[in-house]
Amino acid sequence: MAKVTRQMAEKTGVNVDELVELLVKNAAAELTTFYYYTILRVNLIGLQGEGVKEIAETARIEDRNHFEALVPRIYELDGKLPQDMKAFHDLSACPLKRMYQTLWRSVLPHRTAAWPARWTETRG
Ligand SMILES: [Fe+2]
Repeated sequence: MAKVTRQMAEKTGVNVDELVELLVKNAAAELTTFYYYTILRVNLIGLQGEGVKEIAETARIEDRNHFEALVPRIYELDGKLPQDMKAFHDLSACPLKRMYQTLWRSVLPHRTAAWPARWTETRG
């Protein structure tokens, strides 16, 4: 079935190899952000944290849904996800520390809360 779908896409003039590569990278980014939002959400504590916990949860579920929507498309086009999770993560172009910083700023734009000390120990 995947071969038929791939051939149909190729007949439209789409570079299917390139499309699959982009879909895999996007899936990596979606799963990676889902993972980091999960960590962020459990670290949102105290009054300031509780106020944005729902925002983090909404973003977390949204990215999970994006990941789940992408995966069938990849396999329908005869592609596949890397079997190595580290390799998959690295396709996301989301270095760990930068991702934490981005998430931190996105949920707390005025950064009224202190940067969690334990996050300074992360690589990236
Ligand atoms: Fe997303």
